[in-house]
Amino acid sequence: MKKIFFSSFLMAVCLSMSAQSIIPQPLSITPKAGEFVVDSRTAISVEANDDGFTKVASYLSERFKTAAGFNMKMTTQSAGRNIICIRQTEGFDKEAYRLTLSPEIVLIESAAPNGAFYAVQTLCQMFPDAIYAPTANKNVKWTATCAVIEDAPRFPYRGMHLDVCSHFFSVDFIKRYLDLMAIHKMNVFHWHLTEDQGWRIEIKRYPELTQKGAVRKETVIGTYKSKIYDGTPYGGFYTQDEIREIVRYAADRFITVIPEIEMPGHSLAAISCFPELSCGLEEKYEPATRWGVFRQVYCPKATTFKFLENVLDEVMSLFPSEYIHIGGDECPKTSWKKCPHCQNLMVTLGLRDEFELQSFFIQRMERFVNSRGRKIIGWDEILQGGLAPNAMVMSWLGEEGGIKSAQQHHDVVMCPHTKYYLDYYQADPYTEQLCMGHLVPLREVYQYNPVPDTLTGEQKKYIRGVQACVWTEYMTDPQRVEYMAFPRALAICEAAWSVAENKEWNSFIRRLQTHCGRLDRMNVNYCKAFNDVLIRVHDDDLYSKVVTLSIEAPDAEIRYTIDGSEPTARSPIYSAPFVINRSNVVKAAGFKASQKTGATTQRTFN
Ligand code: ACM
Ligand code: ZN
Repeated sequence: MKKIFFSSFLMAVCLSMSAQSIIPQPLSITPKAGEFVVDSRTAISVEANDDGFTKVASYLSERFKTAAGFNMKMTTQSAGRNIICIRQTEGFDKEAYRLTLSPEIVLIESAAPNGAFYAVQTLCQMFPDAIYAPTANKNVKWTATCAVIEDAPRFPYRGMHLDVCSHFFSVDFIKRYLDLMAIHKMNVFHWHLTEDQGWRIEIKRYPELTQKGAVRKETVIGTYKSKIYDGTPYGGFYTQDEIREIVRYAADRFITVIPEIEMPGHSLAAISCFPELSCGLEEKYEPATRWGVFRQVYCPKATTFKFLENVLDEVMSLFPSEYIHIGGDECPKTSWKKCPHCQNLMVTLGLRDEFELQSFFIQRMERFVNSRGRKIIGWDEILQGGLAPNAMVMSWLGEEGGIKSAQQHHDVVMCPHTKYYLDYYQADPYTEQLCMGHLVPLREVYQYNPVPDTLTGEQKKYIRGVQACVWTEYMTDPQRVEYMAFPRALAICEAAWSVAENKEWNSFIRRLQTHCGRLDRMNVNYCKAFNDVLIRVHDDDLYSKVVTLSIEAPDAEIRYTIDGSEPTARSPIYSAPFVINRSNVVKAAGFKASQKTGATTQRTFN
């Protein structure tokens, strides 16, 4: 593996801030002398007989049109000065590229448009962050420092998931989400379209699914334990035209959309429309109004399989993805245990328990998906009872499922909930709005190694990638999604793209400082808690607790007080855990050159 290699310390110093601050970190950057400057006379040339490359050129030219206010000339000429040349070149993997900036010309070399697209993403990050602005700025000098960048992804599957069932998000927001993915070289959008709380995809054969199944009568306020509801119907769905539009929009950004149709669990919204798909044990079925796991699941009978096959046929006509996600997670066996049909079926098939019945269900649907020339992907639980060799497992429960899958020679996407579920807290749960689960700050996400050391070299090859999962139980609007997803999704995108040798926390958190300027230009509502001190209060005794303080911002010192006063640049510097009593109020902030890095955070004994 190549490493980032700076030819000399001097060169490293000469390397501009922008070239040092690319996220995700490229494979290698070799700084060169000089600058390339884009102005209204800069031309783009495409040396390829391929529409895909031309689209990449248009993407770059659109960016400059929006942010700089001038149209770059498209030319067939690639000699001369002031040209950005995209050249199809054999010898690269599909997503790999070489980007060479000299004062006269920028040369992008790749074998396929995918690689050229990623070169353009890197190139954009080498210009001032105004390149990401939504309106034209005439006063910027569009300068990029010269360098040769060789780059290729670590993993072929670089995913971001979005749950549009807990809360629904507009087509415009889905496009923005795809834009943010593309900028960070992510290439799979896992679209979680069906759930207990709502069915969100139009199926022409079953209009009830979106007439009735897309709306829940109300939503829980707080956690599922509160038992307090808002009394307001909530719903939304995507028409097939909208879905086609999104699939196209994603494809233009080299993103594959993988739809998820949940089965056999998390299917209450569908069952509410067609109770005959269930075991029929309940008086009433309606879309869930709180989060969690529900015992009302599909009953494995002919009508259910026919229904799911019809649904999947329409789904596959909309989504050209190689993989179709069929869920498979969290299917309680309560109803199957009581259902005469399920119990008879188990006897007929010689199944020992309901876990084998789940396996029968998944394998049957897998055969159907395979018969249409596609493959299945599903959550860890699809592994129960054996799978066809071409099924891919999305490992969310922890690492064990991923390890087991790789050992059984199944491709795996790693997204353990303890690290890659971005609905979990990222900052002090005492002061954050309600989130799901525990505290997973940016550093912990970043430092997770998605290729478990327990795997052999051969088994490690089955880890095909990673995914950020954005479950939206407590994310009611796009701003909240952005806050929860960013910057942690960037840590995952670096795990997805950058080779392990280039993945280094101190480097990432420094580059993130520059990258925040880009996110600001795009008005991304990212969480800035990495600039704040995280106060952890550990139980000790009735009258004492031990406090630890930490901060992720680079080069920041932590200053704190325990008398309730505001910490200043003259307050004590934190160097080790300390004890507080019941009357103490801990206030802390990060400082760099006497300036606060973020907000003051505080905690009391309780
Ligand atoms: C899941 O979080 N139930 C896959
Ligand atoms: Zn049943």
